[in-house]
Amino acid sequence: EAPGALPRDLEGRHVVVSAGGTAEPLDPVRILGNRSSGRQGYALARVAAQRGARVTLVSGTTAALEPPAAVDVVGVRTTEDMRSAVLDAGKDADVVVMAAAVADFRAAAVADFKIKKTDSDPDAIRLTRNPDILREVVAEQVPGRLVVGFAAETGDADHDVLSFGRAKLERKGCDFLVVNAVGGRTGHNAFEGADNEGWLLGADGSSVQLPMGSKAALAARVWDAVAERLA
Ligand code: CTP
Ligand code: CA
Repeated sequence: EAPGALPRDLEGRHVVVSAGGTAEPLDPVRILGNRSSGRQGYALARVAAQRGARVTLVSGTTAALEPPAAVDVVGVRTTEDMRSAVLDAGKDADVVVMAAAVADFRAAAVADFKIKKTDSDPDAIRLTRNPDILREVVAEQVPGRLVVGFAAETGDADHDVLSFGRAKLERKGCDFLVVNAVGGRTGHNAFEGADNEGWLLGADGSSVQLPMGSKAALAARVWDAVAERLA
């Protein structure tokens, strides 16, 4: 779809999108990170700007991506930095979308100096929990502000992807949750690929299937639902 054909239904809105992974230092040269490419978050930011929004993109670790045109990009690395940037930009936002793959854990202590190799096995790395940014944004309860979360789920022997998604939406308390089916039987990798599929679950019990397609197409479906709710 050509940009000229896009609706301008986010005009006058400020949207904050987090994208990519967070990386936690172990020592001055090593990190604990994940493989999120940032592509879905970047697509959300790009499409929102094309539809008239003022966009703040809080970008963690990503593949080499072109920054979207007419978007404010705030680069972060650790979860703590992402938390500050999202909470700060989110203050006057109409929508906060947490598309980032936030590290659940970080090292309990970061070594001041590079950890050296010795003849024996290394010490185990002790981990501690990171703050849950999405839950903090929801807990602020800013009137009228919509909060969108993402979840990549595989399901398991007893639960399908959708039931995990529904439970996560309730646990997180956000207005929408985009659930991507990953791995498992489909073998599809939502993290690194160009395409994505899943469901958009609403806190009102609604669920919309998001057919396999480009990350821009999925972004458009998400903004359709958000713009409708904002209106
Ligand atoms: N999220 C967050 N802060 C965290 C972890 C996750 O803001 N510390 C956000 C993600 O950006 C995403 C949503 O929460 O929008 C769901 O992330 P997910 O990792 O699926 O949820 P978790 O609660 O961490 O559960 P799980 O054990 O399945 O990883
Ligand atoms: Ca997690």
